[in-house]
Amino acid sequence: MRKIAVIGMGYVGLVTAAGFADLGNRVVGVDIVEEKIAQLREGKLPIYEPGLEEMVCRNMQAGRLSFTTSYAEALDGAEFAFIAVGTPPGANGEADLRYVEAAARSIAENMRNPLIVVNKSTVPVGTGDWVTQVIKKYQKEPIPFAVVSCPEFLREGSALYDFMHPHRIVLGSSDREAAEKVAQLHLPLRAPIMITDIRTAEMIKYASNAFLATKISFINEIANICEALGADVKEVAVGMGYDPRIGPHFLEAGLGFGGSCFPKDVQALAYAARVMGRHPQLLEAVLEINQDRRRMAVERVREMLGGSLRNHVVGLLGLAFKPNTDDMREAPSIDIARYLLEEGAHVRAYDPIAMENARRILPEIEYFPDPYSLAEGADALIVVTEWNEFKHLDLKRIKALMRRPVIYDGRNIYDPQTMFDLGFIYRGVGRGYPPPADPRPPGLTMEEPAALG
Ligand code: UGA
Repeated sequence: MRKIAVIGMGYVGLVTAAGFADLGNRVVGVDIVEEKIAQLREGKLPIYEPGLEEMVCRNMQAGRLSFTTSYAEALDGAEFAFIAVGTPPGANGEADLRYVEAAARSIAENMRNPLIVVNKSTVPVGTGDWVTQVIKKYQKEPIPFAVVSCPEFLREGSALYDFMHPHRIVLGSSDREAAEKVAQLHLPLRAPIMITDIRTAEMIKYASNAFLATKISFINEIANICEALGADVKEVAVGMGYDPRIGPHFLEAGLGFGGSCFPKDVQALAYAARVMGRHPQLLEAVLEINQDRRRMAVERVREMLGGSLRNHVVGLLGLAFKPNTDDMREAPSIDIARYLLEEGAHVRAYDPIAMENARRILPEIEYFPDPYSLAEGADALIVVTEWNEFKHLDLKRIKALMRRPVIYDGRNIYDPQTMFDLGFIYRGVGRGYPPPADPRPPGLTMEEPAALG
């Protein structure tokens, strides 16, 4: 049985620890927050992720997974130490590396046997080399070690599935032998394994997230144009997606991307480019388009309510940045609620699991226990998060409860025609808009179609 230490019991760390334990390794999870470790020892998780609690408890009972605040205990006899600590954004969009540095230092001070340090946190290109220096600086004696970058590609809400079924494992190191040992750990996952240099591995993570974010901002820009021209962006995305060069994924127009990864990673990559004297034009546009989504949602609702939001009751269906999570980080709901409040609306919300987290960030709005009580007396509802339960609402009942039947579907979960037939004043994102009054293509000045031939 190999022993693995996983440092940082946040999202990535917990999933990594549980996943490797489930694959039959002996894993020790480390965190400096004592309360977190005490809770984990009782089988209580600090985050919500489907299936994770069960996996953690099962592996604890089998003796493969334990938790500690002591680096010395975790590193004793360990072959690998995975760093999975947070890298929050700094003031200029740069990644704040203080937790990575603290972890590297503690590893250096507590290691007693040769070790492969594997970095899972999303860190700026060059961090792996810097971690090597930090460890050398704080080591009490020169015990051999290697640093390998192994970026994580899992998504919240499907993290365990993603861990067990990765599309690829990317490993970067100047020490080929160490990279191959990390590759071996991943063999049971049967994924393609790529070994490259450490800076390239770090860049693959940023480039992947930036590309996915670009796809989202791209389709959101197309959605804006669809709205002006009366086309349906959802159908457009389906039609585009058949082309394997484009692919069907990440072309869902909506309120834009949130969460702890895309906004932060695109900013950090743009920041790194600027510092190095490059102009990250595309990345800046991706971020700008994304920020505009939130403002635009409020504009649309204002239009649908006849030009003013003042004293109107607006209900938010969903608060989390995406379904199946209670994560509110960079959630579009936060900006949308604040813009609505600024314009004098009364804002209320319902989310199946994120309300507790939301209350801390948005104490000034009202919370309701279900979608129907939320709808009662509301002038407009905004679908902010595409929870499955919203797809199956009794819409007739919703309409009867609302003061005005206005729905802005920020995630395109309803069919526009069905909504019109039910009598709603409905708009989706890039769909559900009438064609322009002038049927001619924009810019066409001819009075009559040109005669053929
Ligand atoms: C993202 C990546 O998908 C993971 O591969 C990566 O490992 C992770 O970041 C990370 O760097 O840790 P995550 O933030 O959990 O994962 O969520 P996604 O499911 O990718 O969604 C991100 C945001 O994009 C959500 O706000 C979602 O609503 C939005 N989105 C996604 C769209 O607006 N349209 C789409 O078509 C897809």
